[in-house]
Amino acid sequence: MGGGGLMRYARLGFAALAFFLMMPFAFSQDAVMIMNHKELDPHQRPLVRFTHEQHAAKMDCVQCHHDYDEYLNNKGGEGGVCSDCHVQSPMDGKLSLLEAFHGQCKGCHEVMQREGKPNTPVTCGECHILRK
Ligand code: HEC
Ligand code: HEC
Ligand code: HEC
Ligand code: HEC
Repeated sequence: MGGGGLMRYARLGFAALAFFLMMPFAFSQDAVMIMNHKELDPHQRPLVRFTHEQHAAKMDCVQCHHDYDEYLNNKGGEGGVCSDCHVQSPMDGKLSLLEAFHGQCKGCHEVMQREGKPNTPVTCGECHILRK
């Protein structure tokens, strides 16, 4: 009893606290995302598998999660989804959701290919992979 018991509760409390602190990270981003936006239904191509965590480990969040001010300076994104701003059709000078994905994903991969980086898909079948 006494000190030992207290320590045990203290440790339990810490574990619970750590668990709740980790929650937003554990549930807000999936390591791998199967891209399946209903705005793009009906899908004609096999769904794209996006390794978000692997990408995020190699580049800055704001490269993709951009948020421009009126002078097109990047204020730094906060992880909002692309469809918050890019909708089904181009609007207010912003690309459509499909153009936003293709522009960003393929755009970067094309630059990477020119720089000789391997495993940066640019052809349809390398991203829209038929899996069975
Ligand atoms: C290579 C581009 C890229 C990088 C780098 C990147 N993300 Fe993402 N992120 C995406 C895309 C694309 C989505 C999916 C958005 C959608 O479904 O509309 C996404 C989704 C998310 C989501 C989920 C949003 C939701 O509500 O479902 C969060 C949170 C997030 N990213 C945070 C981050 C953070 C934090 C970093 C940096 C550590 C980061 N991202 C780096 C492209 C990227
Ligand atoms: C907060 C709103 C907002 C969010 C969220 C957002 N964008 Fe954008 N995006 C913009 C604006 C504004 C522009 C600039 C439009 C212009 O040129 O006037 C833009 C431009 C672009 C462009 C063309 C220029 C460039 O910077 O490459 C691409 C591609 C793009 N967005 C893709 C994406 C993708 C993919 C996501 C999600 C990971 C995303 N955007 C999230 C607002 C947003
Ligand atoms: C800012 C640069 C950048 C953007 C934006 C980007 N990628 Fe990549 N991508 C890379 C790099 C670099 C690699 C190769 C490194 C590696 O193997 O992880 C890669 C590799 C890949 C691969 C092959 C390896 C794997 O992880 O499966 C796929 C598939 C892929 N990207 C899909 C996407 C999709 C889908 C998007 C848009 C939602 C996207 N990428 C946006 C830089 C980018
Ligand atoms: C770098 C990866 C990448 C490449 C390369 C790519 N796409 Fe996509 N494509 C995507 C992503 C990501 C989406 C968004 C899917 C979603 O969220 O539902 C998409 C969506 C689509 C859609 C709308 C959804 C559907 O299935 O109907 C079509 C059509 C499409 N792509 C056709 C193509 C064609 C044709 C090519 C080759 C010229 C191509 N894509 C190359 C990543 C890619």
